[in-house]
Amino acid sequence: MLKGKKLGVLGIGNMGKALIGGFIKAQILQPEHIYASDKHPEKLQAACDELRIQKVSSEDVIKRSDVILLAVKPQDMGTLLDQYATLFHKEQLVISIAAGLSTDYIQDRIEGNIPVVRVMPNLPVLVSLGASAYCLGSHASWPHGVVTSLLFSAVGSVVEVSEDQMDTVTAVSGTGPAYVFLLAEMLTEAGTREGLPREVAGYLASQTIKGGAEMLVNSDDDPMTLRRRVTSPGGTTAAAIQSFEDNGLREIFYKGVHAARHRSAEIRQTFGHTKS
Ligand SMILES: NC(=O)c1ccc[n+]([C@@H]2O[C@H](COP(=O)([O-])OP(=O)(O)OC[C@H]3O[C@@H](n4cnc5c(N)ncnc54)[C@H](OP(=O)(O)O)[C@@H]3O)[C@@H](O)[C@H]2O)c1
Repeated sequence: MLKGKKLGVLGIGNMGKALIGGFIKAQILQPEHIYASDKHPEKLQAACDELRIQKVSSEDVIKRSDVILLAVKPQDMGTLLDQYATLFHKEQLVISIAAGLSTDYIQDRIEGNIPVVRVMPNLPVLVSLGASAYCLGSHASWPHGVVTSLLFSAVGSVVEVSEDQMDTVTAVSGTGPAYVFLLAEMLTEAGTREGLPREVAGYLASQTIKGGAEMLVNSDDDPMTLRRRVTSPGGTTAAAIQSFEDNGLREIFYKGVHAARHRSAEIRQTFGHTKS
């Protein structure tokens, strides 16, 4: 499906680079069919040398590509699109990964009813284990969803959601890797306080998260069932879980995820005003 397609990437920062690396590794695109631009010529040159992709101007990224990936920060998107608004055409697909910015926001800024898909990927795309969700803009249709799915399934898992669910997606999977890192940080610190050398505690914490995650994704059982199965009455796990529950861990966590969702909506209110 993507054979011979040309991908253009505007903004080759953490995400842009990670995604291109994943697409090439999965062999769904050839490096010579990938064009990239960035505000920083040296950074762009280094990334293009490393990935063996084509370094071009932003104008040429748009003119030469079938699929254009917008990978700049939300606050930079308006300026970028206003500058190149007239260069897009209907046969192209524009994919935005910017947090908080709606498909309407992108469509409003480029001329000609261009198909736009919004994707929320996450950092584990770096190791081809990303979790991405996408929604179609009003000028996009099923084939655009298929192209998006093919691209992002090369770097992990993909689901389609409705646009009004995107803030929650951002708070669950977009931001989620940081929650896992925080869990590792806390488990390491707790193990250190309870007497283990820090490196040993850190190693055990990360291997435990890796093992638990592997079981979770490969099991037909939900997380609660898995947890209950390892919680013997009167045992050590039961003691820990009881303490977490007594101290309101669930409520603290729900509030954190809610704060992330709220922040995603705030970003849209600050940077994401549609023109119409
Ligand atoms: N990082 C994540 O985990 C994550 C997860 C999901 C979604 N996202 C989304 O992915 C997007 C990129 O995030 P990131 O972390 O990769 O950001 P980043 O590392 O800052 O990369 C963006 C790059 O684009 C450059 N840029 C800015 N304006 C440009 C323009 N007009 N033309 C060409 N290049 C331009 C930036 O330069 P400057 O540094 O000078 O601005 C920077 O090099 C964001 O919209 C974010 O919401 C990120």
